[in-house]
Amino acid sequence: MSATLTLEALQRRMTQRLDSHHNETAALDARLLLEHASGLSPTELAMQAKHNAAASLINDTNALLALRLTGMPVAKIIGHKEFWGRRFHVSAAVLDPRPDSETLIEAALSLLPANKARRLIDFGTGSGCLLLTLLAERPLATGLGIDKSRAALSMARRNAHCVEPDVRRRVALRNSDWLSADWRANISIKAGGPVDMPVDMIVANPPYIGSDEIATLERDVRLFDPRLALDGGPDGISPYRALIGPSFQRLKNGGHLLLEIGATQAAAISALMAAAGFSDILARQDLAGRDRVLIGTKP
Ligand SMILES: C[S@@+](CC[C@H](N)C(=O)[O-])C[C@H]1O[C@@H](n2cnc3c(N)ncnc32)[C@H](O)[C@@H]1O
Repeated sequence: MSATLTLEALQRRMTQRLDSHHNETAALDARLLLEHASGLSPTELAMQAKHNAAASLINDTNALLALRLTGMPVAKIIGHKEFWGRRFHVSAAVLDPRPDSETLIEAALSLLPANKARRLIDFGTGSGCLLLTLLAERPLATGLGIDKSRAALSMARRNAHCVEPDVRRRVALRNSDWLSADWRANISIKAGGPVDMPVDMIVANPPYIGSDEIATLERDVRLFDPRLALDGGPDGISPYRALIGPSFQRLKNGGHLLLEIGATQAAAISALMAAAGFSDILARQDLAGRDRVLIGTKP
């Protein structure tokens, strides 16, 4: 009977069920779903492993498993995802923060001194994971995040309030197309001066999947990440064509542009950066050894 199932056995059963549906992260997913349903931390779950699971908990975990088996990513089910050691709220309106994007954070932090006031822009901020992480790690920095999706921006605002106590005072979040002039007019980054001043760093993780490739993506991505966050136009690099020139204009001399890219796009996007005037263009690799970030310097 389910009433005599211990928490430990319930977790094992959830893992087996996910595993039998070829879920490659079955054990991790089962643990995260059980933590969410029970409200217990990993330590509490370990300490209470031999406790019996309540019937209501078993029902709740069954409902969560059913969602996961539709392909819905765990982050979308539980409403949050860890990124660079912090929790970010997510919704259907935002791309779930990806471990690959931590490559950009690592590269950006190496260029941002901790004891200097630096001004940043994040084009296509989504959940805010890039900009808010950089502001949390660099307490004197201020930043502007732009996104075309209002719903994404409201998630970034929510995250700005919870990621670190003072980050919300150092960030401005604007709903705009990155091609539009609206956001340039008279916006001030709190405590940082007008945003039409040149900035020290621009980061972006633009959509970079070719429009025709989207149908071939895994179900978890294709069905549950917003198309606006994925679709990079016919060859996947249209957003880079739009962003690189204006980014060059907005940067200070010596400032940096950091772009997350698709694994096969480094040559094409480096060429766009060089044509716009960037120098010292470097690629950084993700944990799987694939080109993941390009860094260019405005001479
Ligand atoms: C790949 S997601 C990246 C989100 C977040 N920066 C991250 O790294 O997880 C791209 C983001 O760009 C936004 N976006 C797409 N086209 C845009 C445009 N023309 N102007 C502004 N934002 C845009 C999308 O809404 C989405 O939030």
